[in-house]
Amino acid sequence: MSEKKLGRNDPCWCGSQKKYKHCHMEFDEKLDHFRREGHTVPTHEMIKTPEQIEGIRQSSKINIAVLDLVAQKIHAGMTTEEIDKIVYDETTRLGGIPAPLNYEGFPKSVCTSVNDQVCHGIPSDKVVLKDGDIINVDVSTIYNGYFSDSSRMFCIGEVSENAANLVKVAKECVELGLAEVKPWGFLGDIAQAISDHAHKNGYTIVREIGGHGIGLEFHEDPWVGYVGKRGTDMMLAPGMVFTIEPMVNEGKHNVRMDENGQDWIVVTSDGKLSAQWEITVAVTEDGYEVLTY
Ligand code: MF3
Ligand code: CO
Repeated sequence: MSEKKLGRNDPCWCGSQKKYKHCHMEFDEKLDHFRREGHTVPTHEMIKTPEQIEGIRQSSKINIAVLDLVAQKIHAGMTTEEIDKIVYDETTRLGGIPAPLNYEGFPKSVCTSVNDQVCHGIPSDKVVLKDGDIINVDVSTIYNGYFSDSSRMFCIGEVSENAANLVKVAKECVELGLAEVKPWGFLGDIAQAISDHAHKNGYTIVREIGGHGIGLEFHEDPWVGYVGKRGTDMMLAPGMVFTIEPMVNEGKHNVRMDENGQDWIVVTSDGKLSAQWEITVAVTEDGYEVLTY
């Protein structure tokens, strides 16, 4: 990435209209320093301005409200198609657009992934939720051009101890990953905290699918995987916004495409359960801000 060298009195590259020396000059010197030490550092495109983060915050409010409504309404006997309708109606009522709808051909407004479905489950009037199911509802919102993304697990009725524990551990994984988010830390810190916790509980983590930068687009750089090691991978810097969304498997980590999944639905290869929670987080000057949960 070549980034043009700015003069001290030039307007900053971030669009703040402040002089470079009063804005991101020190920040860039820090990035240069770490780059010279051999680290991978974020590009300027990954750094959001306070105005952009405010836009993502507003989008996130809708995203959370939609998930809250799903949480109120979800029950055994309903179809995932009905969840899709709730998400579409509530998102648009609040002035947003469901980001999944028509995204690279995705046919619905939300992803609903039941039991052995790992992610990108497609809502359908044929999928009826039943007692004992676990389901991930993954809501993504565009508001005023800004994207937000989060997902939660729901346990339908009485679920097995096993399923409940998987859902709990998957949530703890996100929380432990989040606790690692700080400027000049590493994506690998997040990854290792998450995979260590999953493995300690006898579970595995999906390797092929990860989180992502988000804000001006649905999926931006960097890619946020969970196989990395502490102190490796890209460094974190204030202004980065990305998702943390590990998929935790009860059995093997391997996944495959469902043959009837319209090239979207990912399932576990061994047919065992998978659970996922997702949050959107911003890196701040001294830690993080959770935008969606
Ligand atoms: N919400 C998913 C994510 O966390 C994205 C799904 S893409 C879709 O990245 F088209 F399936 F919605
Ligand atoms: Co996401």
